[in-house]
Amino acid sequence: MRIVMPLLCLLLSLPAQAAADPKLGKPLHDKQCVACHVKLLGGDGSAMYTRKPRLINNAVALGQRVAVCSAQTNAGWFAEDEAHVAAWLNQTYYKFK
Ligand code: HEC
Repeated sequence: MRIVMPLLCLLLSLPAQAAADPKLGKPLHDKQCVACHVKLLGGDGSAMYTRKPRLINNAVALGQRVAVCSAQTNAGWFAEDEAHVAAWLNQTYYKFK
């Protein structure tokens, strides 16, 4: 029994982590987010994520910011969608551990 619970927890936590897929985040971001950042900053809008100082300084804050923005834009995203986008932004621009 003692070994079963940790194993069960591990198995249950796997799908949530596997769900954050940067490849799925890019198209969502392109559709819902990029236009406004381009309008504000020009170029491809990515200056929003590379400016100094950046608003966002860790992975948790990035996840929260994506959630707030997606709520504001009525994107209709699920938590997985937000995780995909946060993962893509992190992989591409922020590079938090
Ligand atoms: C209506 C315009 C608009 C839309 C749509 C929008 N954003 Fe933003 N976003 C902004 C503005 C303005 C800021 C800068 C806020 C500030 O400086 O306080 C920002 C900042 C951010 C930042 C922080 C950048 C930093 O400094 O590190 C992230 C991350 C971000 N947006 C993600 C998103 C995501 C993800 C979406 C799509 C769900 C999105 N945004 C949609 C206007 C928008």
